Order: sequence, then C-alpha cells, then structure tokens
Amino acid sequence: MKIRIKTPVEIERMRKACRLAAETLRRAGEMVRPGVALDEIDRFVHDFTFENGAYPAPLNYAGFPKSVCISVNEVVTHGIPDGRVLREGDVVNIDVTSRLDGYHGDCSAMFRVGKVSEKAERICRAAREAMMRGIGAVRPGARFSDIGEAIEDYCDEMGYSVVRDYCGHGVGRGFHEDPLVLHYRNDERLPRMQPGMIFTVEPMINAGTWKVKTLADGWTAVTEDGELSAQEEHTLLVTRDGYEILTVE
Ligand code: MF3
Ligand code: CO
Ligand code: CO
Repeated sequence: MKIRIKTPVEIERMRKACRLAAETLRRAGEMVRPGVALDEIDRFVHDFTFENGAYPAPLNYAGFPKSVCISVNEVVTHGIPDGRVLREGDVVNIDVTSRLDGYHGDCSAMFRVGKVSEKAERICRAAREAMMRGIGAVRPGARFSDIGEAIEDYCDEMGYSVVRDYCGHGVGRGFHEDPLVLHYRNDERLPRMQPGMIFTVEPMINAGTWKVKTLADGWTAVTEDGELSAQEEHTLLVTRDGYEILTVE
C-alpha cells in the first residue's frame, strides 16, 4: 500500500480535471426533472466530456457500459443509465468522473425530481452533511480512520446506516488508487495524512440496513431491504493546514 504524494504540477492538472467533473455534474443535475430518461443524461455527460477534450472514466471501466453512474432511490451506487424515466418524488445520485490530461476528477451529488417526500429530502441533506463531516476530519497528521468515525458518529445521530461494501479512494492518474477510505468506524492503521495526498470521500448512507446486493447486471447495487440510499462525493487535496475541495467550479 503506497499513498502517492502529488507534485505541484500534478495538483494543477487534478484541479483542472476536478473542475470539469464538477461543471459536468452541475449541468447533468440541471437536466433532472420528471420525464427525463437516464440515458439522456448519460448522452449529455458523454458529449460534454468529449467536447472538453476529456474522457468519461466510467465508460468501459471494468466493463461498465455507460459514461456516468446514475443511482435512483434504493439504488446505492453504480446504477447504469438506461431508458428509465425519472418520476416526481425520485431522488437521484449522479456520479461523474472526468479524465483530463491523464488525471481523474470524481464527484457525485443528490438531485430531487420535482417535489420529494420529507423522508427523501432528509436523507439527501444527511448524505451531504455526512460527506462534509468526513471532509472536516482531513488535515495533515490526521488518521484516515478519523473520516469514518466522523461519518458514522453523525449517521448514528441521524438514524442512518453507513454502507460498508464501497469506499472512497485515492485518485490521480489512476481512477482508483491507494488508499481505500472507509466511511465507517475502523481501526485500519494507514499512514497519516500528508499535504499532497488526493483522495475522495463519498459515503453512501441508507435509511434501513447498511447491507446491499448487486443486481444481475453485475453493477447496480441496491439496498437489501429496498429502503432509500443517498450519497455525495468530492475529490480532496490535503493542504498544509487542512484540505481543499478540488471538485468545485
Ligand atoms: N465513480 C465511482 C466512484 O466514486 C466509480 C464508478 S466505477 C464505474 O468511485 F465503473 F461504475 F463507473
Ligand atoms: Co469515487
Ligand atoms: Co465517483
């Protein structure tokens, strides 16, 4: 396990890739409304990414067939966009990864389709807050396990469970680099955080059990009990005195 420290030149390239991912995600989110098909959003992400001289990293990654992951309601992660049409009340995670000049920016957020239930609104807000609590633990000298502790403490308070099967990750030239960033309490003893490390924080939180199952397509992960799930993701740089969120415009 080797956590690479990025050079200033690499960090500048990461900023550019991450900025494009954030812009793509915002624009994709602006398409979310009742009646839109998931593959229309996929088409936008595909075309916009190429127009900007980048490549949509999910496309053909370990056989993933589309350019973006779109996960609706009880889908936890890795939803494959198809002809499914969004309906009023759905909550949707869109996860965009752009590779620009050889470097990856990775981010996701929740979007509401029209007016959603209070229950759905609450878990969407909590997914963002859970991510921000995790990000708040990022600074030189901190342990990676501080991230999972902050997230799980918050989810305990809110009555949500934290998915254990999928993690955050280092990111750079590789889509998924070391380390694995766990979003739940753990006693992994990774090296402490240092300036120049870049990784994601992307907790998936569930209204019911944390357990997930994978559908027959080999990708789509859903909650075992069919309850709602929500997730948000940023790519972060450890700085001299804390962190910088790279996936911003
Ligand atoms: N973007 C996801 C992540 O945050 C990974 C998607 S892999 C894919 O790590 F193949 F489904 F695209
Ligand atoms: Co990620
Ligand atoms: Co992602």
